[in-house]
Amino acid sequence: MIYHIRGGRRLEGCVKIGGSKNAVLPILFATLLTRGKSILSGVPEITDVDTVLSLLRAFGAEVRRVAPDVLEIETNNLSYASPCERITRQIRASTYLIGACLGRFGRVEISAFGGCSFCERPIDLHLHAVRAFGGEIRQNEILCKQLYACRVVFPIVSVGATVNGLLLASQVEDESILENVAIEPHVLALVAFLRIAGCRISILHTPRPTFFVRGGRLHGVKMRVIPDMIEAGTYLLSALVTGGRVTVEQIDPTHLSALFSFVRKMGADLTVKERSATIISPARATCADAVCAPYPALPTDLSPVLAAALARYGTGTLRDTVFPKRRSFLTPYHALGANFVESEDGAISFLSPDASHADSVTVPDLRTGAGMVLYALSLNTDTTVYDTQDYILRGYEHFTEKLNALGACVCEETHEHRKENI
Ligand code: UD1
Repeated sequence: MIYHIRGGRRLEGCVKIGGSKNAVLPILFATLLTRGKSILSGVPEITDVDTVLSLLRAFGAEVRRVAPDVLEIETNNLSYASPCERITRQIRASTYLIGACLGRFGRVEISAFGGCSFCERPIDLHLHAVRAFGGEIRQNEILCKQLYACRVVFPIVSVGATVNGLLLASQVEDESILENVAIEPHVLALVAFLRIAGCRISILHTPRPTFFVRGGRLHGVKMRVIPDMIEAGTYLLSALVTGGRVTVEQIDPTHLSALFSFVRKMGADLTVKERSATIISPARATCADAVCAPYPALPTDLSPVLAAALARYGTGTLRDTVFPKRRSFLTPYHALGANFVESEDGAISFLSPDASHADSVTVPDLRTGAGMVLYALSLNTDTTVYDTQDYILRGYEHFTEKLNALGACVCEETHEHRKENI
């Protein structure tokens, strides 16, 4: 997709937030471990969901979209088929095939796992869990005749490895213990799905988060996907980037506490209600330091969007402790006029932006793509943002429509249309 953006727009109005991408993807893979029909509502209309559905269908899952945000998935008669590498390399969540396929079929080929390549994303912790449950890792394949209850201690907090640990534990009747787990809302959404499906899971929060899981034969689940805290955060920050006033609706404010305190520190006026939040941008932002870390801190997925806000005001610092090398947003933001210095300890300090900048940029990954469109909206000239890989559509439903309803002026053009006109 190519985005033509008219600059100088303040975003104002209300926007409804969709279901969480990071919650629905592991839940979709978890349906492979159930027998019967699951009905999921609040499913976002993003291409990552379509990608996972094509993987599920290849195993024989029957998927019907009964409403724009409602999926029925029937998983009684499944059989293993090698996951198509062209598809798995499109999304990071394809790593969840490991837990789902080992649990259902006792085997999985480790194909190329994709997703945004903003920095190295190893899977050693996922494999650490696999071995503990009895998986045998061969060159390109993992096999296991039987999964055994075990205790897995994760040396660092990993969302992906925790998800795979939960998927594996859900197939074992005896109690498995997962220690030092991620407790992001999207991980707890998977816990909720597995509980409804028939697992018994208890959670100990201190001294470090631990799941005690008793699994077994799982049945279909009816549930609603939690709201997307990253989409909500993106639109809240859009008000800061463009100097506007935005209300995000259909949110869960408890997931956004760290972002609320951060925008208040930047000087924004914020009103939080039971299911919504309204942000009014300050005329001049105060210097604030953003630190992205595991939940309940600021999410790493928001770091490129936080950077867009800090870069516009030319103040504050950003540090990402989850992916310290996440830097893919710096080059395109710099092309758009942002100024910053990087210190040796990994913090990025933002300085006053330049008045002159490029009039076109290319999107390097999903979250940076969203940040670039917001940044371009705040400039005084028009900008073309080339998203040659359609990253933004992977994670933001109706992105252009939602922005334009807030007063933006963004026109989309498909690459095919552009080619036809050349
Ligand atoms: C991360 C985010 C998650 C978000 C997802 C989508 C965190 C803790 N995780 O999850 O909230 O939904 O991106 O973009 O905020 N690591 C290893 N070995 C492994 C796995 C991870 O060393 O096998 C390291 C990573 O390099 C990173 C840290 O662990 O430094 C956390 O990574 P992890 O949570 O696994 O990343 P994602 O699952 O991609």
